[in-house]
Amino acid sequence: MEEQVRIIVSEKMTRYARGWHCLGLSEWFRDGKPHKVKAFGTDLVVFEGETSKKLNVINAFCPHLGGNLAEGVIKGDSIACPFHDWRWNGEGKCTAIPYAKRVPPRARTQSFITCEENKQLFVWHDPEGNPPPADVFIPHLEGAFSDSWSDWDWSFHELNTTGRELIDNIVDVAHFFYVHGEGKGGGCSYFKNVFENHFATQYLEIGPRPENPGYERDQTYTGDIHQLPCYNRGETTYHGPAYLVSRLMFKLSAEDSCEVIEILAQYPIDEENFALHMGFIVRDNPNLPKEHNAARAKGVADFLRRGTLQDVHIWETKTKIDNPLLCDSDGPLYQLRRWYEQFYVDVADIKPEMVNRFEAETDTRHALPVWEQQAAEKIAQEQAQAEAAGVAMPLSMS
Ligand code: FES
Ligand SMILES: [Fe+2]
Repeated sequence: MEEQVRIIVSEKMTRYARGWHCLGLSEWFRDGKPHKVKAFGTDLVVFEGETSKKLNVINAFCPHLGGNLAEGVIKGDSIACPFHDWRWNGEGKCTAIPYAKRVPPRARTQSFITCEENKQLFVWHDPEGNPPPADVFIPHLEGAFSDSWSDWDWSFHELNTTGRELIDNIVDVAHFFYVHGEGKGGGCSYFKNVFENHFATQYLEIGPRPENPGYERDQTYTGDIHQLPCYNRGETTYHGPAYLVSRLMFKLSAEDSCEVIEILAQYPIDEENFALHMGFIVRDNPNLPKEHNAARAKGVADFLRRGTLQDVHIWETKTKIDNPLLCDSDGPLYQLRRWYEQFYVDVADIKPEMVNRFEAETDTRHALPVWEQQAAEKIAQEQAQAEAAGVAMPLSMS
């Protein structure tokens, strides 16, 4: 009997993850106006208290008759509804109804726990309504506050997909060559994942693979980045379901290697759409004047953003598959999805296999010569096409 082929296309996500979600740079919200953010299937309003200076996030739909508070006005530390002027504070409590004799004692709306870190605003989302545990926090990045790093180069994108599709990327070793290297370079010479508690990490290197590089490859690199024995090194960690911090080191030229922090932060807009924030800071090269460093940081951020937008294009055009068919040279996707599931179940239902330490190197030693061969063929093919069209091509595009 012929074997049945079953591709399981995912159902819509009906629950939003528990975790910290970044809404963008704090400074965006500090202009004295309320801001509407479409997230978690509703509208939120972000507003800065006039005296407290705190950034508050509450549900934008007023419990009185549904007016949208993001269309209202900040009055003191409350937001005033544009419909009948009811006032709501950051804890979701009704603080005043100017035309009423008294405020109904149980007049409350949904409010969110917030925090600010790395000059970004975060909300805590938990379908069970619990506060964040003490060990679940956004990591502090020194570079975001340092004069020897650039300012955030930040962008916001709306994607017609769900969070899991973005997460899958952290184990996807082969796409670096086919998507980012465009089939002409960028194959990973080292690739390892570690999952534990609410962290999922990827260590990767692109370029020559010395068997003993002089440091532990699956640890934070603390050496001189000019001494890296590879072209490109990445240490990337999801801190919870929605905040990715990637520390990238790569050679820009023989004399200049750079260090970058890339943030990919996401929140669900609704069951089918996601917001993706992309931010970059670049450490200055102390041998260059300030203005050169600014241009260098912009060039690096533009280059890396283009790379992530290559992923975005794939995410938006692919389908979501619950039972992917994997080969021996793919990364640990099923283990990653098990890790990711912890954010979509009640805390009482988190199973040990979702949070226990798991580590796996995906060996690319078989793939590397194949990628080299494919790259050579593609480059030769492009050169032949260019010659036929009478266009001069550089010898190497990798
Ligand atoms: S709907 Fe907001 S005050 Fe009436
Ligand atoms: Fe990618």
